[in-house]
Amino acid sequence: MSRTLDPDLRRALAARIRYYNEMGIYDFYQRPLPEGGDEVAATVVVGEEETNISERTLEPGEEMSPRKAAAVALPVVDENVLESIAPNLEHGVKDPVKALKIIREDLGDCTRCVLHKQGRKQIVFGVGNPKAELMFVGEGPGADEDEKGEPFVGRAGQLLNNMIKAMGITREDVYIANIVKCRPPGNRTPERDECETCSPFLMRQIAAIKPKVIVALGATAAKTLLAMSASMIQLRGRFYDFKPAGVRSNDPEWDGCKLAVTYHPAFLLRDPRQKGEAWKDLQMVMKELGMKAPKASS
Ligand code: URA
Repeated sequence: MSRTLDPDLRRALAARIRYYNEMGIYDFYQRPLPEGGDEVAATVVVGEEETNISERTLEPGEEMSPRKAAAVALPVVDENVLESIAPNLEHGVKDPVKALKIIREDLGDCTRCVLHKQGRKQIVFGVGNPKAELMFVGEGPGADEDEKGEPFVGRAGQLLNNMIKAMGITREDVYIANIVKCRPPGNRTPERDECETCSPFLMRQIAAIKPKVIVALGATAAKTLLAMSASMIQLRGRFYDFKPAGVRSNDPEWDGCKLAVTYHPAFLLRDPRQKGEAWKDLQMVMKELGMKAPKASS
């Protein structure tokens, strides 16, 4: 059964689906209809494209996909047309530069969490090589980053630049972003709901860039990306298999990447004795990427 929806209803449905996508929810299951109706097909406008989507109900005993799925109460429409699976706006856009542009535009002048009204000057989206093999993810912009609109440009950024240089590459070779894109007031740690609201955009950036390795800088980045709670001691010293939550990469060749955790450069500024430990983490990353550290100049 295939139906075409009223344009206003289509728009409302597409907006609702996008809202769920932004929360990292992509798999939708229809609650069983009262009688019959095991398959429904709908035509839904997502972005500018009209897509035919087929829906199905859960089989008895079948479970929702464990990651992010929702049985969603979308607006009840008399035609019984319910949810659809909506890809990201950048889905199908192979060029990471274009994909990142689409994500940035979708982010817009974001007001999705309270940080937009707590003194941020601008959104700090991310910077670097859109085709980077290596990505660094920090916590959130500080005052310098808020001022410049670029991540890691203050003192912690200078240390990060030195760490990158020690690996034999430059800041321009990698991509750098944060869990939250707006400065938390007083440089406080971002709240969990702020991380959860903002991180779907980071997940989409990761899926567009398709790095080989991500380095999570500090506990906030590590815990948000890995969706787990543990101490830095427990988190460091190994690789995790990482796939950006709630995002489908349009590249079948890219099946996620490795993720390593190291100390945040701001922590290393406070406790320089831990720099050696951070260097061990970076050496592990370099080995994975087949990189050799430059010889120390005499
Ligand atoms: N600290 C972060 O976590 N990110 C920045 O961009 C700057 C400092």
